[in-house]
Amino acid sequence: MSELCNEKHTYGNLINGRWAEYASGNVITITSPVDGSFIGEIQAVSKEEVDEVIRYSKEGLSLWACVPIFEKARILYKAAELLEERAEEIADILMMEIAKDRKSSVSEVKRTADFLRFTADAGKSLEGIAVSGENFPGGSRNKISYVRRVPLGTVLAISPFNYPINLSASKIAPALMGGNTVILKPATQGAISALHLVKALQDAGLPGGVLQTVTGKGSEIGDYIVTHENINFINFTGSTEVGRHLSKISCMTPLLLELGGKDAALVLEDADLTYAASNIVEGAFSYSGQRCTAVKRIITTDKVADQLVEMLKTRIEKLPVGDPRDNVVVTPLIDQKSADFAEFLIQDAIGKGAELIVGNKREGNLVYPTLLDKVTVDMEIAWKEPFSPILPVIRVKDMDEAVEIANRSEYGLQSSVFTKDINKAFRIAEKLEVGTVQINNKTERGPDHFPFLGVKASGMGTQGVKYSIEAMTRPKAITINLTE
Ligand code: NAP
Ligand code: G3H
Repeated sequence: MSELCNEKHTYGNLINGRWAEYASGNVITITSPVDGSFIGEIQAVSKEEVDEVIRYSKEGLSLWACVPIFEKARILYKAAELLEERAEEIADILMMEIAKDRKSSVSEVKRTADFLRFTADAGKSLEGIAVSGENFPGGSRNKISYVRRVPLGTVLAISPFNYPINLSASKIAPALMGGNTVILKPATQGAISALHLVKALQDAGLPGGVLQTVTGKGSEIGDYIVTHENINFINFTGSTEVGRHLSKISCMTPLLLELGGKDAALVLEDADLTYAASNIVEGAFSYSGQRCTAVKRIITTDKVADQLVEMLKTRIEKLPVGDPRDNVVVTPLIDQKSADFAEFLIQDAIGKGAELIVGNKREGNLVYPTLLDKVTVDMEIAWKEPFSPILPVIRVKDMDEAVEIANRSEYGLQSSVFTKDINKAFRIAEKLEVGTVQINNKTERGPDHFPFLGVKASGMGTQGVKYSIEAMTRPKAITINLTE
C-alpha cells in the first residue's frame, strides 16, 4: 500500500506534507457507479480539522514565497511526468469511481499533464510593468509606479465529480504559479481520483502546507470552509445551484464560478449536415453527456430537420453503451438520482408530445442515448441541464427565432453555429449570449489555454491558463517618488 491509503483502502488527507487520517475517525465509503463495488473510504473532516489545515496553509504562504518561480515550475514539470507514468493506474481508478470510459479517463490524465507544463511555462513568463506619472495630466516623470502581480493568499479549490483530475489541476496549478497556497475540496464521488493527482504534486516536491486537501460532504462541511475568514479566494466548478449558494454566503471573499450549461447547436440550412451530425453526436454523448460543455440542444429549421434527425439517429444507434472498462462511450450515470432525473425529463417530453427517435431505455443508472425530436418550449428538456445522454431537437421557423430561443435559457456557457457561410456565422455568433461561440464545431472547453467562461447562470470570471493565474493574483503597486 502507498502512504496515500492503508491496506483497507482508507484514504487520508494531505495535511502539512503528510497523509493523515483524522482522530475523529469519521469516514465516507465510496462505491462504484459501475457495479456498486467498494473503492475506498475517505475522511469526513470536522470543523477543527479544517481550522488546522487553514492554519498550515497560512504558514505555507511564506515558505512558498521563498521558492523561486523557476523552481515552482520545475515541481509542476515533475508532477506532469509522474502523472504520465501513472496514467493507466489513475485511469483505472477514474473508470470505477466516476464511470468514465477508458479512453476519456486516460485522456483526462494526459491532458492534465500537458496543463501542468503549460501553466509552469506561463508562470515563468509573468512580468510586471513600470508606469510613468507623466502620462496623466499634471503628472510627473518623477513618479514611477512599479506594478507586479502578487498572490491572494489561500485559495480554496472546489472541484466537481465529472473531471476530478483535470478540474482540480486547472485550479491548483495556476494558483500555485501565482504564489498562493491551495486547499482542495474535491467532489465526494471523485475524491479518490483527485487525491492521486495531489499525490503526484506532492511527490514532485511541493513543500508541506502549500497544497492540502479536505474531503467530506459539501452539504456538511462546505459552508464552514467557504465562509472561513482565512480563505482568500474561492475557485469553484459545479452546479449553478451550489454556485449561487456559495456566492450568497461568501460575503467579501472573491470567487470564480464555473457552473452549468445548456449549450445549443444552431444548424443552418446550408450546413454540412453529415459533418454536423457526427460532430454533434460526439459533443452530446461523450461521457454520457456529463460535461458542462456537452451539446444539450439542437435548434434548426424544418427544411433540414428531417434529414439531420435521420443522420443523428443512425449515429446514435451505433454508440457503444455499457461498462466503462469495455471501451464504450455511454456509461452508467454517476448515481441513481441522476438517472431518475434523466428519466423524468424524457417522460415529461414524450408526455407533452415530443417524438422519441431513439433511446428511452434504462437499466439501473445506465441511461441509453436518447434523441427527442419536435421538442417545444413547454417541455422541461428544452431548458433544464440534463447531465445525461439526452439530446432534444427544437424546430424553429428561422435563425432569428433560433437565436431568441438559444438566448432565452438562463445559462450562457457556449453555443455552436454550423454553416458554410462565415458571414452568417459571425453575425449569429455576435448575438449569442454565451462565453464562447464555436463555429462549425461542437461546444468544448479546450484547448485549455483558451479563455473559458460562462455568462448569466453559467458562471462568473474567466479560466484558461493565463486567465486563471490572473484571476488568482492581484496587482501590487510600489510608487517611487524621485526628489528633484
Ligand atoms: P455540485 O453538486 O455542485 O458539486 C460541486 C462541488 O461542490 C463538489 O465538490 C461538492 O461536494 C461541492 N459542494 C456542494 N455543496 C457545497 C457547499 N455548500 N459548500 C462548498 N462546496 C459544496 O456539482 P457536480 O454534480 O459535482 O458537477 C456537475 C455540475 O457541475 C453540472 O452542473 C456541470 O455543468 C457543472 N460543471 C461546470 C463546469 C464549467 O466549467 N462550467 C465544469 C464541470 C462541471 P460534494 O461532492 O461533497 O457534494
Ligand atoms: O464539464 C466541464 C468541462 O470543463 C468540459 O470540458 O469540454 O473538455 O469536456 P470538455
